[in-house]
Amino acid sequence: MKFIVYNVRDDEIPFIEKWGKDHGIEVKYTTTTLNQETVEEAAGFDGISCLQTIQYSAELFESFKRLGIKYLSLRNVGVDNIDLPAAKANGVKITNVPAYSPESIAEFAVMMSLYLSRKVGYMRQQLDQKHEFHFSPNFMGRLISEQTVGVIGTGRIGQAAIKLFKGLGAKVIAYDKYPLKNTDNSFVYAKSLEQIYQESDIISIHMPATDDNYHQFNHEVFEQMKDTAILINTARGSIVDTDDLIFALQSGEIAGAGIDTIENESADLQDSRSTKKVNDPDVLKMALMPNVLITPHSAFHTSEAVKNMIDISLGNLETMVNGKTPKDLVD
Ligand code: NAD
Ligand code: COI
Repeated sequence: MKFIVYNVRDDEIPFIEKWGKDHGIEVKYTTTTLNQETVEEAAGFDGISCLQTIQYSAELFESFKRLGIKYLSLRNVGVDNIDLPAAKANGVKITNVPAYSPESIAEFAVMMSLYLSRKVGYMRQQLDQKHEFHFSPNFMGRLISEQTVGVIGTGRIGQAAIKLFKGLGAKVIAYDKYPLKNTDNSFVYAKSLEQIYQESDIISIHMPATDDNYHQFNHEVFEQMKDTAILINTARGSIVDTDDLIFALQSGEIAGAGIDTIENESADLQDSRSTKKVNDPDVLKMALMPNVLITPHSAFHTSEAVKNMIDISLGNLETMVNGKTPKDLVD
């Protein structure tokens, strides 16, 4: 049995090597992104482990079939970028890692909320751009405990975020298309999405990208939000209309945004050894705004998460190659 792991970063290598040694399985790794050309490298391997936010296309799965590869094990949660019917049609079984560390993403959302609530971007801008180091009225912030936090999506990450926001004393209202039947009473579900938009000081998005939430956050929604509100998106870029967000931030429809995921992320994002300069005009625009914290889809990135992503994804691959049903099968 032998596996190939794509999109590897240097911080993953010790975990991959240890897993291979502990399980007596040959595991080759490469920093290459998986695509139509690079899939040829997988010829002769029993399965692929991968982590990327660009599309896994129908053509790619046709190549899997041609190369006799039946198993793709994702090291991440989201499956919105996969042509699942094409995978099925080409006999490819897929697993993900649904809970490698929900707390990692939840903490990141809280960190972004604190950064923006305490105006750290304005402090950085004064020092980095003007080389000035003194008090400013622009730095007056707000306590999280004074704020109402609207959490959209009360799954693994949303629930972890609620716990952290509650710990800081926030009032939490939540929305989920499929609400939990039993909650621990630490939060209440809002009557509607409109209530979330209108009453929240901070909105934190924790749902998957689906066809029905494409550009859910658009001009009409920003108009409904408080002009003091902060939007945090650590979920998927397609949920927020970037042009409308930039307009809302510049016109004062909302006060700030924490953007870990932006629509149309490029293949370069996954290349941890890249020295290419970013050329996305929206990223460059937001990078200069003191009321925005924009990060390269890195909310997941903690040592706990990386270890679990490797161990669980390679474990899923081993289970599948052994002809057993893994618990993380994606249907
Ligand atoms: P989860 O499946 O545990 O929870 C998602 C919740 O969203 C569910 O309760 C579901 O009912 C709800 N939901 C689905 N569609 C909805 C809709 N249209 N409106 C409202 N609620 C809806 O998933 P999770 O582990 O909490 O992850 C959530 C998302 O976070 C993932 O799908 C992924 O896109 C993103 N994510 C980002 C990072 C990062 O590094 N930035 C890391 C991991 C996951
Ligand atoms: C996920 O796990 O879904 C993420 O968004 C993390 C990313 C490295 C793909």
